[in-house]
Amino acid sequence: MERPLTQHISANHPWLNLKDYTAVGGYQAVHRALKSFTPQEITKTVQDSELRGRGGAGFNTGMKWSFVPMDDATQTKYLIANADEMEPGTFKDRLLLEGNPHQLIEGMIVSAYAIQANTSYIFLRWAYKKAARIIKEAINEAYAAGYLGKNILGSGFNLEMHLHTGVGRYICGEETALLNALEGKRATPRTKPPFPQVSGLFGKPTIVNNVETLCNIPHIINNGAAWFKALGLGADAGTKLYGVSGQVNEPGLWELPMGTTVRELLEEHAGGMKPGFQFRGALPGGASTDFLVTEHLDVKMDYQSVAAVGSRLGTGTMIILDDHTCPVGFIHNLEHFFAQESCGWCTPCREGLPWTEKILLSLENGQGRLEDLELLETHTKHLGPGSTFCALAPGAMEPLQSGLKYFREDFEKHIHEKKCPWDEERNGSHL
Ligand code: NAI
Repeated sequence: MERPLTQHISANHPWLNLKDYTAVGGYQAVHRALKSFTPQEITKTVQDSELRGRGGAGFNTGMKWSFVPMDDATQTKYLIANADEMEPGTFKDRLLLEGNPHQLIEGMIVSAYAIQANTSYIFLRWAYKKAARIIKEAINEAYAAGYLGKNILGSGFNLEMHLHTGVGRYICGEETALLNALEGKRATPRTKPPFPQVSGLFGKPTIVNNVETLCNIPHIINNGAAWFKALGLGADAGTKLYGVSGQVNEPGLWELPMGTTVRELLEEHAGGMKPGFQFRGALPGGASTDFLVTEHLDVKMDYQSVAAVGSRLGTGTMIILDDHTCPVGFIHNLEHFFAQESCGWCTPCREGLPWTEKILLSLENGQGRLEDLELLETHTKHLGPGSTFCALAPGAMEPLQSGLKYFREDFEKHIHEKKCPWDEERNGSHL
């Protein structure tokens, strides 16, 4: 089984420095791209590979690049790696950043060449201190070796690369809020259109791509679009970094063919549920996705298959709900996070999320009424797609709306029994 992204990353070794990386074929894609491809050919190859954005939304990467206006060679353009990984339960980019930073840098050089950007940024999550240290060192190595800076490998192509650390706000992962943050402004999302590909950082054409997306680029250039497409098992191309967290025997992260089933991830890779715990559901791609339940265990974890059963692949890192955990409390915990992380810019999100959180808390504590369930249903619509400025609140509504669908009996039990059926477990008195 091919694992292009993680094959050289090992828990027993420190990060791959420039020497290690070049020893295993690193930077060949930069040589190849700058010598044998035009920028348009790179974009076409990436588009043909059907690589989709690994940040969560799954937009076709090559198509995104193709929106950058290329007619004026003198126009400033920017490339940004979105490394502000803050989706709950998601820790996939961290592995790539800490384990093989040159793979990201190489992907960024090739991508920047494709869109003819001469300035690039890595926008890094504030809490990723170890990654920050490693990336800084790797960028310095790449400059010293002539892979960054002026006239890279004698090609005439110039690229500067900067590391920027955020301040620990979830909204900064939204690409236009990220742009505002980078410009030193309040990190609120911007209206789209115009999309950043046309008017982004400082009003210039800008591509924002996720770390895992960019790390795929050198492999696509080295091995071709057809090779990449063939890595996937179903409708979508490539491999995927999948994760599982919760009461499983071996929580972790694995690079597997895109389209690996939920069951294989859970039972083979995560080693199944811990003794005494039953699977009740899973959020397939971080907190802002709809629950999958037992009937979905054989669903392929790719964009199309997960969407076909009413959820989203998102970041591909599953959070498991088990039978010892109160679903109302589980969802309340997530809504608390989203309410706290709302940037406050638009009213439905700023007012609706704390309200949702309060209703869930009263339900969890046995003080809820049946009408509250209707109220929550209404919230899922008023905070849903199209009602807010960005995807934060609609994402927050996904576990809630699917939780109300799949675990409705548990919500009702809280109301009828006037207490949380998991109270004893919550207090630890069952132990
Ligand atoms: P989106 O679907 O609006 O956009 C995705 C990308 O496609 C953007 O780069 C956008 O510019 C581009 N795009 C979309 N429609 C376009 C069009 N018509 N023309 C040109 N370009 C277009 O999604 P968004 O709001 O950027 O991201 C939401 C996703 O982020 C969610 O799926 C969520 O799972 C994920 N997410 C991931 C986090 C993480 O830590 N990895 C954190 C928070 C959210």
